[in-house]
Amino acid sequence: MTQDKVVIFDTTLRDGEQSPGATMTHEEKLEIASLLDEMGVDIIEAGFPIASEGDFAAVTEIAKRAKNATICGLARANFKDIDRCWEAVRHAKSPRIHTFIGTSPLHRAIPNLDMDQMADRIHETVTHARNLCDNVQWSPMDATRTEPDYLCRVVEIAIKAGATTINIPDTVGYTYPMESARIIRMLLERVPGADEIIFATHCHNDLGMATANALAAVEAGARQIECTINGLGERAGNTALEEVVMAMRVRNDILPFRTGIDTTKIMNLSRRVSQVSGFPVQFNKAIVGKNAFLHESGIHQDGVLKNVQTFEIMRPEDIGLTQKNIAMGKHSGRAALRAKLKELGFDLADNQLNDVFVRFKALADRKKEVYDDDLIALVSDEQTNDAYEYLQLKKLRVVCGTEGPQEADMILLIDGKDHHIDATGDGPVDAAFNCVKMLFPHKARLQVYQVHAVTEGTDAQATVSVRLEEEGRIVTGSAADTDTIVASTRAYINALNRLIIRRQKTAPGEDVKTVSYHGE
Ligand code: KIV
Ligand code: ZN
Repeated sequence: MTQDKVVIFDTTLRDGEQSPGATMTHEEKLEIASLLDEMGVDIIEAGFPIASEGDFAAVTEIAKRAKNATICGLARANFKDIDRCWEAVRHAKSPRIHTFIGTSPLHRAIPNLDMDQMADRIHETVTHARNLCDNVQWSPMDATRTEPDYLCRVVEIAIKAGATTINIPDTVGYTYPMESARIIRMLLERVPGADEIIFATHCHNDLGMATANALAAVEAGARQIECTINGLGERAGNTALEEVVMAMRVRNDILPFRTGIDTTKIMNLSRRVSQVSGFPVQFNKAIVGKNAFLHESGIHQDGVLKNVQTFEIMRPEDIGLTQKNIAMGKHSGRAALRAKLKELGFDLADNQLNDVFVRFKALADRKKEVYDDDLIALVSDEQTNDAYEYLQLKKLRVVCGTEGPQEADMILLIDGKDHHIDATGDGPVDAAFNCVKMLFPHKARLQVYQVHAVTEGTDAQATVSVRLEEEGRIVTGSAADTDTIVASTRAYINALNRLIIRRQKTAPGEDVKTVSYHGE
């Protein structure tokens, strides 16, 4: 390993997918893994194989399909977890087992292990993992709240037992940059054998410092960053891949490290992860937020027109954002649409392109100008809704205005058969949702309902995201349309379709990850 290379370990499909409601389908996980592989991610943490049959199947399939990336699975500190993890990752050209245990006083107390007992457990489990696989990562969970002397002791044990990467997780987003660097320096100085392995940094964002903490760890000698696309992850999320990669690129003068990431793929991955996880990207999010390259104030606009570097530290095209915006209209043909989508990072199969083309024509009829963002919303919508759907919206009319009650009249296809109903509600969206509830009764609770305009103008498409919860199962749905009520209803139906699939696959409560981090 050359000293200036930083290995990128993406855990969108494991730590990211653990965020409540971000659960992805099997196909979506395969798609994201393949995009990460193409983008040049060195290691993909594909899941937690013991957690469920679904996780096991996804890690196995991702391992079989990966072309370049190392495929890693997570395992707690017991033989059963490690064996199951190996069974899934062993199909990869380059497999890795990642095993962990909580080493801080708070985490030692839960399995009720004293320091010596925990040290023995680490020795046994890392040795076991290393007997199966010659690429083993070990993590002392909650490392940043672990006593420094004990941290040095357990890291030394893991190295002696054969760990090839030692990850230092800031599990609760508690550290700050100087401390993050100090911990890595301490381990490099005090632990025998530390120069033979790679140190990784894994930071959560509870205090908004995950990216800074990860980069500080790298400056101190860590050579692997664990991160997720869009910073997806439990609570406030993880270090965002796009932030650390672009920071090392833009500030190469003070962070002289390189990664193997093709940064022009960042924007496409960000959009796709946002779509499949149902977590919209905040407008002012660094690098991939909608406003990241927008200049509103007169002074900024003036500066940018004279010299773009006055207010931009990177070029939009560096992350795959195309500059050419207004391009498509109702006279554009299929070949032009294919070329435009390719430029935006979407390589569609012929049947998908046909469907998108039909919808593009309908949109171009309704909307004067079809912007890049309109096309992206359309394709994302198509990709989200292209599987067989038990519930489908066939027709919707609403009556709304200042005089209530608002009414909706709907034809819903349920398993391919027409069902007609009308209902009233407190507003047109409520009336439309009531129609769906009457035709398909369920107990799911609406947790989130969000509407975003894709572009400017009153004829802009709306993208709607909804999140539903039923007996601990959390699902999200999304849809886009120039009619906000139609988009809302389709997003609601999309979430219900996902719930139906989830009901078939999981017992109530599984989304809450019934597998405890401390159990067997
Ligand atoms: O945050 C954390 O500690 C983790 C471990 C499982 C590595 O995600
Ligand atoms: Zn984590």
